[in-house]
Amino acid sequence: MIVVTGGSKGIGRAIIDKFAEDKKNIVVCARNLDALAQVKSEVEEKYGVKVYTFSADVSKKEECTSFIKFVKDIDETVEVLVNNAGVFVPGSIHDEEEGAFEMMMQTNMYSTYYITRGLIGDMIEKKHGYIFNIASVASFMAYTNGGSYAISKHAMLGFSKCLREEMKPHNIKVTSVMPGATYTASWAGVDLPEDRFMKSKDIADLVFTAYKLSDSACVEDLIVRPQLGDI
Ligand SMILES: NC(=O)c1ccc[n+]([C@@H]2O[C@H](COP(=O)([O-])OP(=O)(O)OC[C@H]3O[C@@H](n4cnc5c(N)ncnc54)[C@H](OP(=O)(O)O)[C@@H]3O)[C@@H](O)[C@H]2O)c1
Repeated sequence: MIVVTGGSKGIGRAIIDKFAEDKKNIVVCARNLDALAQVKSEVEEKYGVKVYTFSADVSKKEECTSFIKFVKDIDETVEVLVNNAGVFVPGSIHDEEEGAFEMMMQTNMYSTYYITRGLIGDMIEKKHGYIFNIASVASFMAYTNGGSYAISKHAMLGFSKCLREEMKPHNIKVTSVMPGATYTASWAGVDLPEDRFMKSKDIADLVFTAYKLSDSACVEDLIVRPQLGDI
């Protein structure tokens, strides 16, 4: 079974499709119930797998805790966790809206920390598991409109590095996925052709390829950009 946070759209949804194609059952959370219901019906019908949905706002610790309980109550092993839920509000540290820092740290970073801690114990016990953290090229570079988003994604990369070291003796792999611009709702309203962006499926294909490598190999960092570079 694979757990994807924020999997009702965009990159998370593409990752769900990729693993469902491989006959993995799916657990997915997001806030919008209708979007979750749509993922469930489409993926179950197309791939014949089970999709468990849960409405949670992962920017809130108590909702992360409820989601963790929901996952643990399903009588199946979590083989892969994809920390994907995230929000991007462009801005600059010196003048972005008050609260932007807290909102993006809570949604992007704190949720990753809470949900990983909540689910990793069973992986450690089984000596088997894989965690993908969907970070960003903003995890290692400065952009003028990066603001608190970039801070939260830098934190995710640090989190990933530390966790990978900790998990080596436990046979759990940790990969930081750092995409550049990928065509999803995050880019709504931008006046650029769709083919200037990567596709969500490109990211999902990379994640799945990393997952399929032999037990001896761990893809530590995945950096991928649009063919014409950053936007
Ligand atoms: N698109 C890019 O260019 C790009 C580049 C680099 C990295 N990334 C990263 O990739 C990840 C996915 O991005 P995306 O572009 O695919 O986003 P997206 O299309 O906007 O989808 C975001 C998903 O996360 C869910 N979500 C958002 N806030 C949430 C919250 N507080 N609690 C629970 N679920 C939440 C959304 O559902 P609800 O709205 O219903 O909650 C949706 O399912 C993010 O971490 C993003 O930072 C994206």
